[in-house]
Amino acid sequence: MSTVTASPEERTAELEARIRQAPEKFRVMTGDRPTGPLHLGHYFGTLHNRVRLQDLGVEVFVIIADYQVLTDRDVAERLAEHMEAMLLDYLAVGIDPARSTVFNHSAVPALNQLMLPFLSLVSVAELNRNPTVKDEIAHSRQSAVSGLMFTYPVHQAADILFCKGNLVPVGQDQLPHLEVTRTVARRFNERYGAVFPEPDALLSAAPLLLGTDGTKMSKSRGNSIALGATADETARLIKGAKTDAERHITYEPETRPGVASLVLLAALCLDRDPHAVAEEIGGGGAAALKRTVTDAVNSRMAPIRARRAEYAQDMGYVRSVLRAGNERADAVAAATLDEVRGVMGGVL
Ligand code: TRP
Repeated sequence: MSTVTASPEERTAELEARIRQAPEKFRVMTGDRPTGPLHLGHYFGTLHNRVRLQDLGVEVFVIIADYQVLTDRDVAERLAEHMEAMLLDYLAVGIDPARSTVFNHSAVPALNQLMLPFLSLVSVAELNRNPTVKDEIAHSRQSAVSGLMFTYPVHQAADILFCKGNLVPVGQDQLPHLEVTRTVARRFNERYGAVFPEPDALLSAAPLLLGTDGTKMSKSRGNSIALGATADETARLIKGAKTDAERHITYEPETRPGVASLVLLAALCLDRDPHAVAEEIGGGGAAALKRTVTDAVNSRMAPIRARRAEYAQDMGYVRSVLRAGNERADAVAAATLDEVRGVMGGVL
């Protein structure tokens, strides 16, 4: 087994085998920014995978990254509402609070305190090279880059390392951040003694879903289908999706991104191969494609949406899930911070 030359994809395959053998050796750490409703890109990219790992017996920590909202905007708008919607989404897809810990940044002070020693371990030049941060700066609503935007991959290292997470299920765009976390863990251990694991990325098998406008599906770009959307809203969004002038439907992500993304969405919902789905629609054109996608999304999401509506009837319970998660995360973070203080000289 060569870990030096393995690509992230090869490493992922190897990890999957080890997870099946010994799920108790892994602790998954992942999360989302509460900037708006979670959508189908999240579902197929990561939520589905989190639940799968949880069900395999891996301990899962899920962060609602509220401070991270402030990386690309001045004020976190409708934060409480977005956090509650996110909790509903988590519960609806099958995150089980008896087995998984859901918490948020601002409720766990010791996690945030870890960011200070961690910042001392990375150089400004390294932070400057992060391609995902560069892309986010390009799409930011702010005219100037804040220190929080620039350093948030280090904050994310604290998110992952506070609970000694060793497995981070992510999409390709988060790989540079995971490199920062690995660097922080390695340097900390070199300077102060072995405290942290060097976490591995677990790449999602699902290819990137595009939004209805043909660019990356993103809650902040207004081009996404929310998990909690109604069947009618879903139909309307898909109806307005961008296709192209060619009638015959094919699956060619490079040359026909709009059409391919719709085909992919149907294929993911139906658990089928996108080429087969495209072939079946063939000469039916964009109208048939959109009908297929709408039906596929609505039937795949129906049980999730029904559960979501049920939980929404009991917001007291939903809030108690976060409260309990925060208490547990707080205890874990305090223990890690104590250990960090100890190895750093017992004062810091
Ligand atoms: N940056 C992640 C995103 O935008 C959210 C996130 C915050 C995260 N902290 C994390 C993901 C820790 C994995 C691990 O989706």
